[in-house]
Amino acid sequence: MTKLLIPLAFLFLFSSCDSSEEEVIEVDIEQSAILVQFENRIDLTNLPNYANQEIPSYISKDNTTTNPITDNGSILGRVLFYDKNLSIDNTVACASCHQQSFGFSDGDIASTGVNGSTGRHSMRLVNARFADEVNFFWDERSTSLESQTTQPIQDHIEMGFSGEEGNDDISRLFEKLESIDYYNELFTFIYGDTEVNEQRMQNALGQFIRSIQSFDSKYDLGRAQVNNENTDFPNFSELENEGKALFMDRVDFNNNGVRVGGGIGCNACHRAPEFDIDPRSGNNGIIASLSGGTDTEVTRSPSLRDLFNTSGEVNGPFMHTGFSEDFEDVLDHYDNIPAAGNGLDRRLNPMGNTQNLNMTQGEKDAVIAFIKTLTGSDIYSNDKWSDPFN
Ligand code: HEC
Ligand code: HEC
Repeated sequence: MTKLLIPLAFLFLFSSCDSSEEEVIEVDIEQSAILVQFENRIDLTNLPNYANQEIPSYISKDNTTTNPITDNGSILGRVLFYDKNLSIDNTVACASCHQQSFGFSDGDIASTGVNGSTGRHSMRLVNARFADEVNFFWDERSTSLESQTTQPIQDHIEMGFSGEEGNDDISRLFEKLESIDYYNELFTFIYGDTEVNEQRMQNALGQFIRSIQSFDSKYDLGRAQVNNENTDFPNFSELENEGKALFMDRVDFNNNGVRVGGGIGCNACHRAPEFDIDPRSGNNGIIASLSGGTDTEVTRSPSLRDLFNTSGEVNGPFMHTGFSEDFEDVLDHYDNIPAAGNGLDRRLNPMGNTQNLNMTQGEKDAVIAFIKTLTGSDIYSNDKWSDPFN
């Protein structure tokens, strides 16, 4: 039905010189299946603001290169992100493993795909844009966010368009999406024709993911009132300010790698105010693999923002192994790094010894209180990042 309407609308577009493109699009949309399919949840004439969201003045890191966020691209990205049609058997969407209620991660240690469970824990997709690191995945094997986005689709376990074991490859997905009315409309709306290809999908998904931003935390309220990270924040409790100082400050070690003063050195790798990973980081000593054996290549972490949700619950277990849901276990890990070698970052191996932070319970409580100030609320509730099919 709609497939017939679109070419008509386009004939109209190309034949009428005196009408602006916008007017024609409006005509197209009024008769559009989008309004039916999505029960008015997506109005192409009145899109949510993805492109011009407010970014605090103290945020400077940005890994956008050739694919700036647009409202059009992001809305297509959002539909793709939530669409189970992107998997070989229509059971799994990106959002199955990257759930809004978990900061776009998953509460499970490993996530379930079309052919089994993932080899690493899912990653939060919060503030993925605001980082110096341009490589994605825990082990940084993808050289851009764009190239990352179509890899899960082609992963045999995750979404299954792998070309392996008799499964179709991704070219079949392009044909499949071209046979769906709402994609005909969305691709035409954005690109002027119905062609689905990998680059168009990558751009749209990349824009949607970069649009997911969280800057309404208690930390941000405080940061906006001071000139730098190291000043006490006026809106923080004494405990939160103590935790912030411990997180920010470098460690003073003795010759045996035992901490004798200073902070606990987290900011060297998880750098405020974005809390993005230092691109030069080695691994942090969490080198187990969910499938047994070792996994020493993990040198990336999502931003440490929104590790907890607004109710103080964790957005899934920590690290690529999902080794714990208790933040004290994270601190105990850094307090006493198990083994050197195997790519351990030298900052965690002071004077050739695995670091011993010698933390008191009071210090641990302070750091946990601080980490909880990094939680926003908008990302969990804002409709513009929610499921358009539901
Ligand atoms: C079956 C679960 C699953 C599905 C489906 C899935 N992901 Fe993921 N995602 C993961 C896991 C697990 C990782 C970490 C994998 C790794 O690093 O080896 C990840 C990592 C990522 C990252 C890297 C984040 C970072 O900071 O480096 C992005 C971006 C991402 N996924 C986007 C997507 C998109 C887009 C889709 C849909 C096309 C998708 N994912 C589908 C589980 C999933
Ligand atoms: C030398 C660099 C480095 C330092 C210093 C460092 N980290 Fe990390 N951190 C990493 C890397 C790399 C990862 C990813 C590890 C993995 O999953 O295997 C990580 C992961 C994490 C995670 C898990 C994030 C997630 O999404 O699951 C938390 C939490 C964390 N670090 C907290 C801290 C704290 C608190 C400190 C200070 C005591 C600290 N880190 C110091 C490099 C570092």
